[in-house]
Amino acid sequence: MLQFVSNKGGGDPVDFETAILDGFASDGGLYVPESLPEVSIDMLNQWKDLSYQGLAFEILSLFIDSGTISELELKELLNKAYDSFEKDEVIPIYKLQSDNETYIMELFYGPTISFKDIGLAFLVNLFDFFLKRKNQNLSIIVATTGDTGPATASYIAGKSTLDAWVLYPKGLITEEQERQMTTLPHSNINPVGVFNCPEGGDDLDAVITKLYANIPFKNKVRLSSVNSINWGRIMMQTVHYFYGYLRLVDSVGEFINVAVPSGGFGNLCAGGLARKMGLPIKTFVIANNKNACLHRIFSNGLFSKESIHETVSSAIDILTPFNFWRFLYFCVEKDATKIKKWNDEFDKNGHIQFDKATFKSYSKGFISCSVSDAETLSTIKNTFEKNQYLLDPHGAVALSAVNKLKERLDDLKLLCLTTAHPAKFPKTIEKALSTNNLPESAFHPSIEHAKKLCQKGYTVDCKHLEDALIFTMEKYWEQTHNKNPII
Ligand SMILES: Cc1ncc(COP(=O)(O)O)c(C=O)c1O
Repeated sequence: MLQFVSNKGGGDPVDFETAILDGFASDGGLYVPESLPEVSIDMLNQWKDLSYQGLAFEILSLFIDSGTISELELKELLNKAYDSFEKDEVIPIYKLQSDNETYIMELFYGPTISFKDIGLAFLVNLFDFFLKRKNQNLSIIVATTGDTGPATASYIAGKSTLDAWVLYPKGLITEEQERQMTTLPHSNINPVGVFNCPEGGDDLDAVITKLYANIPFKNKVRLSSVNSINWGRIMMQTVHYFYGYLRLVDSVGEFINVAVPSGGFGNLCAGGLARKMGLPIKTFVIANNKNACLHRIFSNGLFSKESIHETVSSAIDILTPFNFWRFLYFCVEKDATKIKKWNDEFDKNGHIQFDKATFKSYSKGFISCSVSDAETLSTIKNTFEKNQYLLDPHGAVALSAVNKLKERLDDLKLLCLTTAHPAKFPKTIEKALSTNNLPESAFHPSIEHAKKLCQKGYTVDCKHLEDALIFTMEKYWEQTHNKNPII
């Protein structure tokens, strides 16, 4: 049976169920499978015509043994997870007319219209499945830059096994994203708007890390997370790389390039691991906005934290791409001692310069760049004018990066991941198209509906967030699960 270990080397190996339900490993590291399963060209050939759910079943079965979840249960979980997606194919692929061999992979047809729905649709159902079997409850806490929050809230809403605490940096996400979280009437959904976050969503991640380290509190409210610290998110996100690849190629074995708008490196970590498993991807284009931590890491080996820039692609205004540590583990022959040493050094100094050999080990097959707001806006405009196709700002960052790095890319088919629907970012779309008379494709019925609903939620200043959460979550837990009402 495949076991899961911390990428920092602490604690004992755990089984799949424990890795999922715990979120973080006991030493604060990220869970990784002890070994990565291999996918051969023969296997890819057999999977070529599978539906998204069918392919997900094959890939997930490489990580989950049938003693933990039977084949039938896994199939049911997957079918249920993607039932509510707008398109039968779950992830449609659109060929961009203006660019030869450029294909847009539309990852935003779930209920909250961003790619976060893809991982969370399955992961939240998986939590619910395990918890019902154990007759237990958990408090789920997540930090969001605008998309994880709505997806988490939407999937947890009304689930008797889970309560959600969804932290977002107030004023740094769009009004549409905020409404997606705050208009759900369910009593188990607790949105928390946090004022004064000088480092944006990174400030919220830092508080979650502290809450995890507070063992009495963690045990009391049975804390876990479905942020991409959770292995389940990464595992699930490997599937769309396989799916996109198999849809695109004429014959299996052919190489393609893939461009990804990136912040925390969760999506790209999944892509990088899919390639390590055997998926023929030649080059990944890492598309950063002005918050260019990944670009620094992949262009000159410097992992450094700088001040935040507010950009029009706000969901990737992320300073610390923590999933890079998970990917790096597999690039340095799973040497957890090195990962721990580098993590500690980064935590202490706020930067780390990797040596040449390490840089070479992780950067092969990746190219990166930092895209300005002006470039993002002009890509939205040009793509719309040439194709009548409306990109969201994050998809536009990816396509801008492809245009900037064209010279360094082999002449292969290119899959450009678009991670959100433009309806979440109307102000940016207005700016890009220089009009407030937006085309129909800039709207989505779910966003229009949310505009008509009342909002609820907490607000707190960032400096009081940790104390406020401890107090409020404990009281909530006592009242809800210990049947001990607040007086
Ligand atoms: C729309 C959108 N695109 C891209 C990303 C970046 O994904 P990751 O953090 O996994 O790199 C995010 C979230 O962080 C997002 O919400």
